[in-house]
Amino acid sequence: MTRVFSGMKPTGDATLGSYLGALRHWVDDQGPEALYCVVDLHALTVPQDPVQLRAETLGLATTFLAVGIDPNVSIVFVQSHVHEHSELAWLMECTASIGELRRMTQFKDKSEKAEEGGGGFVSGGLLTYPALMAADILLYDTDEVPVGDDQRQHVELTRDLAIRFNSRYGDTFVVPKATVRPAGARVMDLQDPTRKMSKSEDSPAGTILLLEEPGAIAKKIKRAVTDTEADVRYDPSTKPGVSNLLSILAASTGRTPEAAAEGYTQYGPLKNDTADAVVELLAPIRARHTELAADPAEVHRILDAGAERARKTAATTLARARAAVGLLAPR
Ligand code: TRP
Repeated sequence: MTRVFSGMKPTGDATLGSYLGALRHWVDDQGPEALYCVVDLHALTVPQDPVQLRAETLGLATTFLAVGIDPNVSIVFVQSHVHEHSELAWLMECTASIGELRRMTQFKDKSEKAEEGGGGFVSGGLLTYPALMAADILLYDTDEVPVGDDQRQHVELTRDLAIRFNSRYGDTFVVPKATVRPAGARVMDLQDPTRKMSKSEDSPAGTILLLEEPGAIAKKIKRAVTDTEADVRYDPSTKPGVSNLLSILAASTGRTPEAAAEGYTQYGPLKNDTADAVVELLAPIRARHTELAADPAEVHRILDAGAERARKTAATTLARARAAVGLLAPR
């Protein structure tokens, strides 16, 4: 069976983009060989408010469950609950070269931004982040990593590290591959449709939160930026705003954007129908989240059980890696 692993950082609330681009596919891919992880250690590359980090970690785990990931089938857990992640990350740091880590697009972008706006502080973790991500993936003998296009490079690096480690120390890791969904499923910012709808970006009017109230969702969609010519057609390069609405409508109703465009001649009706479709799509998730959030002890119990299941595989793989590099086993 195909082993699947993916992770999401508990920073900022999940958005319609995180749902349509990632979480929805995680639900489709789920099975006893699927692991879904709240990657709290990855959040620490930039300073976090401790109270907020704790709350967002539990909140994101609750969201995983609310969208339909079934903890009786897939493994749902928090990264820091399985200490093997940090331990294997060190071995991966020593397998990666500084040059490789520096070449990562995300590192270049984030370190530049930190230097400009963040008071010049760039943590060491920002550089070594992909080594921790490689550890996440390799610990579980993962075959497939469902990720957005922006994470493809990190999964490629994971492959390179696995291959290098195996050739230096003997066959230890399964070499994984990224499974990236077609670009049509990418949800863009409603106010700036040339950039991705992102949860960490501060564009409240351009971002629909997964748990947002129906009235607010409708308002944001109705105020979405469209394009100057008034026809409705799917063409992301010349009509990014309208195409984004069509992508959202299509993804929310299980069609292609081209099919979703049929019958529309004006922006008004397109916006109304898109708003209705998104509200309808998110309503059950919101209701389920409210229910789950009322019983945090149950979510904690699910996470404890998930970590315990995850640890079994993680411990075996880590022991194999430790032995392979020549760490003396304790007696
Ligand atoms: N780096 C990923 C992101 O920012 C999150 C992540 C961490 C991840 N570890 C992972 C994704 C392992 C897939 C597999 O989106």
